[in-house]
Amino acid sequence: MVCGEPTSCTIITYAMKKQFVANWKMNPGSVKEALGIARASDYESVIVCPPFPFIPAVSGIVKRAELGAQDLFWERKGAYTGEVSSLQLRGLGVRYVIIGHSERRYIIGETDEVVEKKFVAALRAGLVPIVCVGETAEEKRAGRAEEAVMRELRAMPARSRFVVAYEPVWAIGTGIPDRPEDTERMVRVIRSRVPRGTSILYGGSVTAANLRSFCDHSNIDGVLVGGASIRIHELRRMIHIIGTYDRTE
Ligand code: PGA
Repeated sequence: MVCGEPTSCTIITYAMKKQFVANWKMNPGSVKEALGIARASDYESVIVCPPFPFIPAVSGIVKRAELGAQDLFWERKGAYTGEVSSLQLRGLGVRYVIIGHSERRYIIGETDEVVEKKFVAALRAGLVPIVCVGETAEEKRAGRAEEAVMRELRAMPARSRFVVAYEPVWAIGTGIPDRPEDTERMVRVIRSRVPRGTSILYGGSVTAANLRSFCDHSNIDGVLVGGASIRIHELRRMIHIIGTYDRTE
């Protein structure tokens, strides 16, 4: 309780909650395994992003976690073989969608223009985009990390609700996470370019062992976890840690 001048008293609360986005990528191999991971993930502040075929089954399991998808196509329906639309995702109870993950940018070849189209489609459908941005090892070496991240962010409309996942490409799936103080610095730069209140997460080789080092920075709103989010033992430890931030002070 903080008493202000001259007569009013204001209760100031600091939200400590951290978000945990679980990006399963193209895993696991069976519905049975998917359900096991989903059960272990079903906690508040968790956003579970299974591959498309598992979304209906996972949707039937999760009660406290939110449901996300790993991608979408920009048209709502039509002759687009192999694609999945916002309309279809909404119909399955999906609320979030990962856009512009580096595996899609660099393996599948998605351009900034494609990412922008998907971003707009997600917003139009009422989905919350989780936009992934991050520099490559080469860009980092050349001292162009900030420039690369700003280029990827440039396309995002100024006044919309979205989540940013800062994921240095060289840190994804390598076992070599960013240094939390470097992440914090980049998050500050990102924050200066996105709407107030935008949630900014870190992703790239997050595990139970390093999760706190990121979440302890008040400026980092949570994490996007790939590999470790489908290893049940590791997942349980991480969710326990995330839960310790789940309070107001
Ligand atoms: P990782 O993947 O945790 O396996 O490094 C992060 C991500 O999904 O980008």
